[in-house]
Amino acid sequence: MANPMVKSMQNPGNPEDKTDKTSGSPDLSDYYYFRIIDVIRDNRKIDLTQYKPTFIRRRISIRLRHTGTQTLDRYYKYLLSTPSEVDKLIDELTISVTNFFRDPDVWECLKSVVLPSIFAEKDATRRKNLLFWSAGCATGEEAYSLAILLHELLREDIARYKIRIFATDLDEIAIQRGKEGVYSSESIEGSVFMADLPLEKYFTTYDEEEGLMEVIPQLKSLVVFRKEDLFQTRTMLSVFDMILCRNLLIYIDRERHEEAFEILYRHLARKGFLVLGKNEFLTSQWKGMFEVVDLKCRIFRKR
Ligand SMILES: C[S@@+](CC[C@H](N)C(=O)[O-])C[C@H]1O[C@@H](n2cnc3c(N)ncnc32)[C@H](O)[C@@H]1O
Repeated sequence: MANPMVKSMQNPGNPEDKTDKTSGSPDLSDYYYFRIIDVIRDNRKIDLTQYKPTFIRRRISIRLRHTGTQTLDRYYKYLLSTPSEVDKLIDELTISVTNFFRDPDVWECLKSVVLPSIFAEKDATRRKNLLFWSAGCATGEEAYSLAILLHELLREDIARYKIRIFATDLDEIAIQRGKEGVYSSESIEGSVFMADLPLEKYFTTYDEEEGLMEVIPQLKSLVVFRKEDLFQTRTMLSVFDMILCRNLLIYIDRERHEEAFEILYRHLARKGFLVLGKNEFLTSQWKGMFEVVDLKCRIFRKR
């Protein structure tokens, strides 16, 4: 589907040509807005045109205030001359916020309904491959939460299966952090889901003074991290038993949701599960293609 934002970005024009019809003065804000987006794309290969412009503009204005630049043109020049500001702006977009076992009721449903149903179906058909995809995995907590849950549910039976959790995100730095698998013990212990689990079972001490823990190799070996834009996923050949695509679509222009659901649907196995974020919804066009497993937890099953 054509994205009007991309069109205007490709041809933003000369700023001096853009005249505000009401005041007669040059309207520079769009021009520099798109230049800032270009900087992020060129430096970090992140395509911000798919995000809601109001969201991006709000976040940029926070950086305008922090840097004291106040206007988009001055901020743009500052961004060009201060490479560390690129990271700060991306951080400000806070699109990589995540947690271990975020939304415990969702994980409860995965534990008691979804995963047992996937195991039962595999056993009935004597298939050993368990394939999962955490799309928009941020720094990896979601993928490792799933790996922990699989270990907890399958215990020694885990060796009977060939498990892969693909974890993709367009943020390269987030992916790198996921691969490293080092997290603060507070962020791990902060999850109510982890309360009954001994931390040492799945994490080793990485830096005691800093309170950092590292995911054990048995979990890391289940997860394959890859920098990938959801909208460029055409190369991924696998079909998945479950896709977690949580808290990604809320940032994306509604116009592109149809495209996202088409990609997710295509990559789901027959009767595969799709888990969205708590504030995300299937569009009316896609509702009929899934049955509802748990509406509150936004868990759906491909028909
Ligand atoms: C808020 S985080 C969600 C992390 C995790 N799924 C969760 O729910 O806790 C959203 C992530 O989606 C990623 N993202 C946004 N648009 C994306 C896209 N088009 N392709 C891949 N990842 C994307 C962001 O970089 C960010 O890391």
